[in-house]
Amino acid sequence: MGRLYIVTSGKGGTGKTTVSVNLAAALADKGAGVAAVDMCIGFRNMDLFLGKENDIVYDSSDVIRGVCSIDQALVRDERFSDLRLLAAAPEHEDGVSLSRIHALLLTLKGRFDYVIVDMPSGAGKMTADLAETADGVILVSTADLASIRNTDAFDRRLKALGSEKQIVLINRLVPEFMNERIVPRLREINAMLRPDIAGVIQEDRVFQVSANLGVPAYMKKGTYIRKNFDAIAASFCIDIERKKNI
Ligand SMILES: Nc1ncnc2c1ncn2[C@@H]1O[C@H](COP(=O)(O)OP(=O)(O)OP(=O)(O)O)[C@@H](O)[C@H]1O
Ligand SMILES: [Mg+2]
Repeated sequence: MGRLYIVTSGKGGTGKTTVSVNLAAALADKGAGVAAVDMCIGFRNMDLFLGKENDIVYDSSDVIRGVCSIDQALVRDERFSDLRLLAAAPEHEDGVSLSRIHALLLTLKGRFDYVIVDMPSGAGKMTADLAETADGVILVSTADLASIRNTDAFDRRLKALGSEKQIVLINRLVPEFMNERIVPRLREINAMLRPDIAGVIQEDRVFQVSANLGVPAYMKKGTYIRKNFDAIAASFCIDIERKKNI
């Protein structure tokens, strides 16, 4: 069985899709089988960030409705030995069957080493439900007070629902803001949040450029971004295992 991670946040626009695609790329680059799943139904972005928007024929809703098989909907990313994208439906859908989404993700978990699920922000029913089955819940936050507060609120809500597998990634960090005391320092953020901070990603326009070009920033060799995502991929997997075993 592989590991299923959902990537979500208390606030929108914190970098969930950016984290998801770069994490998926980092894991796939090590030779792991990775399914990158876009669960932002009606607000999909993963296909664009991976440069696969013209290759999508079927999406997860088609699989759930029985229009196609999982294999027909999984889009291969030929830049990696085994990275597949499962796109989200382009239109919002009411009454998506949570149990079927659940079953789909469990099937993927049985077939891939890692399933990285890009979720919408906020503690919606689908996120709360999937958090139960996930091996880890990655909360992407910025260092801004508003984002930290909502991350904390989200974590508490998930904890109240029984999930304690949350970890935090701080994205879009601007070191000068910390030095100038505009945003809290990392140890202060750590004290404000229950889950561990599993990684820090700096604000860098490279992420915006790469999202528009459809080439994950991770792919450029020899960069600090690549090194950072390698470390994040390695460390948070171990952390989650450790927490589960306590
Ligand atoms: N570390 C970073 N440095 C600079 N820009 C970033 C960084 N991370 C993300 N961005 C940019 O911020 C914007 C929002 O990122 P992204 O789409 O990944 O966020 P999201 O949390 O998935 O948003 P949504 O809530 O809409 O799904 C994008 O333009 C992206 O390129
Ligand atoms: Mg997104």
